Amino acid sequence: MSTDPKIIIAVDGYSSCGKSTFAKAIAARLGYIFIDTGAMYRAVTLYALEHGAIRSGMIDEEAVCRLVDRIAITFRYNPERGASDIYVDGDLVEGRIRTLEVSNCVSGVSAIPAVRAKLVAMQQEMGRRRGVVMDGRDIGTAVFPDAELKLFMTADPAVRARRRYDELRAKGQEVSLDEIERNVVERDRADTSREVSPLRKADDAIVLDNSRMTVDEQMAWFLDLFDKVVRA
Ligand code: DC
Repeated sequence: MSTDPKIIIAVDGYSSCGKSTFAKAIAARLGYIFIDTGAMYRAVTLYALEHGAIRSGMIDEEAVCRLVDRIAITFRYNPERGASDIYVDGDLVEGRIRTLEVSNCVSGVSAIPAVRAKLVAMQQEMGRRRGVVMDGRDIGTAVFPDAELKLFMTADPAVRARRRYDELRAKGQEVSLDEIERNVVERDRADTSREVSPLRKADDAIVLDNSRMTVDEQMAWFLDLFDKVVRA
């Protein structure tokens, strides 16, 4: 399989569809760089929570804009995870950005235009040399509308909630399936209805519904598709 010249692969879709797991696996398989853009929105949200710009779930947009101006987000490859860890002002935050508290505030923070402007510019710079698999909500529509291969992932909300629940419980977090399901449904609503770059399928994106597919089946499906795209 030829991977030369390298392309951009955009993986967009709903919350908790397994986008990152899938994007990470295909990047490893192709020798591409994997970029989890959701982690960047989560990192800004965590920073806002820790600096008093979100109190009792209320987001102070002006305060978030001031913070996002000075925040330094960096990635460093972690061979143990086979992916890059995210750092904010030099602090490793990877383990703190996936709590339910961050999940409950991240859609609100990611709807702020100044936050999107800063993170989208960073993402475009990271993908400048191509050879990246980037997962998010607006990669195929706003960050790289010229990506050669665009995927749009979806799965039944109940299946997604169950997966996220199993993942958080495995990490020892005390959560209920009910609250996870509410978060998944609410984030879908917020992400698809926000004004700036709402989540939507790009016209030229290919849909992958993985409700009833294993990771191996998704990989086989993808490799077949990738082969067709690079040969075209
Ligand atoms: O992929 P995730 O669930 O970790 O993303 C967290 C949130 O970040 C998601 O609810 C919406 C937002 N997001 C976004 O608006 N644009 C992206 N490219 C990635 C994530």
